[in-house]
Amino acid sequence: MALRLSTAGESHGPAVAAVLEGVPAGLAVPAEAVDAFLALRQRGHGRGGRMRIERDRVEILAGLRGGRTLGNPLVLLVRNRDATLERLPPVTRPRPGHADLAGMLKMGTRDARDVLERASARSTAALAAAGAVASLLLRECGIEAAGYCASLGEVRAAVPDGDVASLRAARDASPFLCPDAGAAAAMTALVDGARAAGDTVGGVVEVRVEGVPPGLGDFRVPEARLDGRLAAALMRIPAVKGVEIGLGFEAARRPGSGAHDPILPARRGGFPRRSSNHAGGVEGGMSNGEPILVRAAMKPLSTLRRPLPSVDAVTGAEGTGATQRSDVCAVPACAIVAEAAVALEVAAALLEKTGGDTMAEVKRNLGAYLRAARRVFAAPRRSSSGGAARRR
Ligand SMILES: Cc1cc2nc3c(=O)[nH]c(=O)nc-3n(C[C@H](O)[C@H](O)[C@H](O)COP(=O)(O)O)c2cc1C
Repeated sequence: MALRLSTAGESHGPAVAAVLEGVPAGLAVPAEAVDAFLALRQRGHGRGGRMRIERDRVEILAGLRGGRTLGNPLVLLVRNRDATLERLPPVTRPRPGHADLAGMLKMGTRDARDVLERASARSTAALAAAGAVASLLLRECGIEAAGYCASLGEVRAAVPDGDVASLRAARDASPFLCPDAGAAAAMTALVDGARAAGDTVGGVVEVRVEGVPPGLGDFRVPEARLDGRLAAALMRIPAVKGVEIGLGFEAARRPGSGAHDPILPARRGGFPRRSSNHAGGVEGGMSNGEPILVRAAMKPLSTLRRPLPSVDAVTGAEGTGATQRSDVCAVPACAIVAEAAVALEVAAALLEKTGGDTMAEVKRNLGAYLRAARRVFAAPRRSSSGGAARRR
């Protein structure tokens, strides 16, 4: 069954929720593991008052028995403490950069509240809960992902080389969820300066995924290309305006000889090796066995304490965009949301490759596939007719 996510909930309604279909039976889903991930999404220097109110916890309302998935749809609920929807005032002056204006026109309303309550990134709490489940599934199959902040405004982090575990440890110790501890002071100054000026800050997040088997995604059907799916998953995150895979836009500036990753002979029993990973682990719309490396650019948030010009839909008066309680910077949170989105997409592609109604079946099928794939580049055997044997 295909992995499929839908979410529901208004920012200040009683809760946000995710329905996740297609998770095989037999996966242990401890609520604490989901909660730990939700807590990461709430972190980051620059968040607004809302995150001081909320204490995100998942309630798993369906799909588990004895702490393990039954293979049925999972229902993941995150309650809002700030559940004030029915008491909140209308918003009649659309904020430039938010969903307000286009949503008011689309829905035929002078009250942007009807739009922003759903357009708000509060729904990414539900996405993060589902992503945490996808990460548990991937871990069972030897795949680990970490999302982190790579830059804030003009402040670029020096992201250390290292595996996902060390990246994650460094990330978790940082107030910006950034593995470069040395960047924190400049990032703090940037965010504090923006706050004092009534402004906001954007940045770039990166997700690294290790242990990905080759061949996830597809070269035969455009919609099934893994790069397209990863890009769409990241672009669906509110405020993400650009996506890169591997070298990304830098590849366009290099000659081919400096943009591609030489193929070296396999070590005994393994896959051919690569001396670099400019492709970011994806070639021909498929994972190629190297770590997947994707980046997403988050624009500076559009709710400004010193707002830009806007027009009141009720009075017609010129004025400024509505001000709301808001984050100054949500790039660290976006890194966690991006990790969730990527984990869900990789898990979906993995399950397409392996099939399987149970985790045992998924792992059995994955093992059989990897054994067969390793034989493709094993030392050639001679066929009885003298030619190199064709492998199937
Ligand atoms: C984790 C996260 C938190 C966000 N917090 C805010 C916020 O506090 N204020 C704001 O104006 N936008 C915030 N956004 C961005 C808006 O949700 C987004 O800009 C808006 O929905 C319009 O969509 P668009 O930017 O993709 O066009 C946040 C986005 C993310 C991913």
